[in-house]
Amino acid sequence: MTDQAAAAGKSKKKDLVCVTGATGFVASWLIKCLLADGYTVRGTVRDPGNEQKTGHLWALPGAKERLELVKADLLTAGSYDEAVSGCDGVFHTATAVVLIESDPQSEMIDPAVFGTLNVLRSCKKSRSVKRVVMTSSSAAVRFNSIFPSAAIPLDETVWSSIWYAVAKTLAEKEAWQFASDHQLDLIVVLPSFVVGPSLPADNSKTVNDVLHLLKGDGSLIGMLGRMGYVHIDDVARAHLLVYQEPSARGRYLCSATELEPEQLCRLVAARYPHLPIPTRLENVPPVPYYTLNSSKLEKLGLKFKPVETMFDDCIAWFRNKHML
Ligand SMILES: NC(=O)c1ccc[n+]([C@@H]2O[C@H](COP(=O)([O-])OP(=O)(O)OC[C@H]3O[C@@H](n4cnc5c(N)ncnc54)[C@H](OP(=O)(O)O)[C@@H]3O)[C@@H](O)[C@H]2O)c1
Repeated sequence: MTDQAAAAGKSKKKDLVCVTGATGFVASWLIKCLLADGYTVRGTVRDPGNEQKTGHLWALPGAKERLELVKADLLTAGSYDEAVSGCDGVFHTATAVVLIESDPQSEMIDPAVFGTLNVLRSCKKSRSVKRVVMTSSSAAVRFNSIFPSAAIPLDETVWSSIWYAVAKTLAEKEAWQFASDHQLDLIVVLPSFVVGPSLPADNSKTVNDVLHLLKGDGSLIGMLGRMGYVHIDDVARAHLLVYQEPSARGRYLCSATELEPEQLCRLVAARYPHLPIPTRLENVPPVPYYTLNSSKLEKLGLKFKPVETMFDDCIAWFRNKHML
């Protein structure tokens, strides 16, 4: 980070910032980092009274003094007006991450696209918000095709299941258009598959994908094909860095490494020989070789933790929580 950015960062530490989707895997860790750095945080949740979903946030150091949770829903127009009012910055992480969608439009695309514009409109209205950091996904730069391998014959009963990538791509495109039309300072972080300790009491989809792998079922990780991986702490730090750096602009890919699923399995299995991690996977789709260039974030000072640390931290956490 430059001296100027470091100075700007320090002055931002008293900022009031809003985090949408506060109960989520990524948002919870981000809130932990924001509170640790001295920020005052207003998190949005759909049900502030739900102890099961919010308890871990109230247990964070600094939460009692500097955390507030307010109700907001991506699908309700104007729902974020109050939440972002008076905030200096907004971190928009909320989105619907659905395992098997029955109606992709209402379950994934609407929360992503309408929801993002809903949040951005409130930011614009607020007049206080100076920068918005949105969490997109590496799926919005890379066609993330979760399709059966050539070994499985396709017939008319099969549908392409790319809705998550479509939702993230459309939401980000709309966000850039809105930011350009309304002169809103928008930065977008595009993490690859996030691995690490999970603060919420209930595991979200990707956390469960990793847990299943560690318990012997590699089908979910295998289905993704070649994939980028990044530590949860690096994802949160990336959001903070781009918020604090005055010269930050545009999109920031956030991925430490990219691996074939069997490569990942062999690496973790060799490190944890007592876990039943499969080293041969079936039905891995032939995703073309690619790499994700995260050098923009590295230039801001982010040093990515290696995949070994992601899994060491994640496994230690699962064991501590008696999930493994
Ligand atoms: N996890 C990954 O590997 C990964 C990788 C790349 C990008 N990302 C991106 O990171 C962000 C967070 O993902 P995550 O893994 O942390 O997901 P998550 O744990 O499922 O959290 C998603 C959050 O969105 C909220 N949400 C869902 N529908 C909503 C609605 N209609 N209105 C308001 N809030 C709603 C949920 O709140 P409730 O508590 O109210 O349900 C939840 O807190 C997403 O934008 C995702 O696309 C994640």
